[in-house]
Amino acid sequence: MINLYSDTQTLPTDAMYEAMKTAELGDDVQRADPTVNLLEEKVAKLFGKEAAILMPTGTMANLASLLVHGKHGSEVFLEPANHVYLYEAGALCSVAGYTPTFFQANRGRPDPDSFRQSIRMRDDHFPNPRVLWLENTHNAGGGVVLQPELQKEMVHIARENELSVHVDGARIFNASTKLNIPVSDLVSNVDSIGFCLSKGLSCPLGSVLVGTESFCDEARRVRKRLGGGMRQAGIVAACGLVALESEVPRLKEDHENALQLAEGLAQIDGLGVDPSRVETNMIFIDTSGWKVEAYDATLLLKEKGVLISDMNSTTLRVVTHRMFKREEISEVINIFKLTKDQLV
Ligand SMILES: Cc1ncc(COP(=O)(O)O)c(C=O)c1O
Repeated sequence: MINLYSDTQTLPTDAMYEAMKTAELGDDVQRADPTVNLLEEKVAKLFGKEAAILMPTGTMANLASLLVHGKHGSEVFLEPANHVYLYEAGALCSVAGYTPTFFQANRGRPDPDSFRQSIRMRDDHFPNPRVLWLENTHNAGGGVVLQPELQKEMVHIARENELSVHVDGARIFNASTKLNIPVSDLVSNVDSIGFCLSKGLSCPLGSVLVGTESFCDEARRVRKRLGGGMRQAGIVAACGLVALESEVPRLKEDHENALQLAEGLAQIDGLGVDPSRVETNMIFIDTSGWKVEAYDATLLLKEKGVLISDMNSTTLRVVTHRMFKREEISEVINIFKLTKDQLV
């Protein structure tokens, strides 16, 4: 089976297994795990922020950020396809107690005018406006990169309205790779960022939340409250250190593979693949004109040996990652060709 379901499906690299075996460990709840401390220091420096804190998941990093930036009754400004709203079991409302207020976006790229219009005067009738939420790269938008100029415009509006700004950067290194801009420059104008070690970076788990010293101190308390205080978490951090060293520079291969695969698929009549929309490691396929719904298409393709996911009834998602090799591109294209008559 060729697995293009997600960049979360990767197994650790050999170097990660080795690093886990040899990592110096301690109790991270007491801040006494030297490997975790080292990862947090390195990440803070890399992102140009004061501090960082290791989290078990991206979902917990998002939740902790919301709980530090505001409290129950707060309002977050975001767009309706943000991961934090769509795919995190409603934690934004049910756990963090925020009211979401939506602005418009195009494939995940926020519309500043719509954002401005969504902000209401401060008034006791309304929730307490606290956070502008951005996502880079944008998952449900198709791995779309948030351009720094657009981010700047959004942040400017947020500052005029005394809002904190958080970037859900689960795949921020894919964005920095695509833009060829260091992550520190990408996040210099925001308050906090979360990124995932367990997406394209091949770690078995782990995310890191980054911000000021006081933000991370409070996030530590929130993490404990949420049940995310980990003991010898150095085995996770050890993988993270390897990832920063060897997996970040490798991401460009995933992007090249995605583009090459999209170009091949675009040659197949009627499939509706647009390579110009491939910005990082995701290919979205519009199946609205197809004979079958997206989910049924995934079953037909799985029978032939390719695993991909459906985002909704008319969109398929293909994600490249470390364990998908360039030599497999032609095999995937062949499988789509063989399946084509059942699809379109
Ligand atoms: C943009 C984005 N944010 C957050 C998450 C949540 O990460 P986790 O699955 O580690 O909870 C994901 C997961 O796919 C994501 O794509």
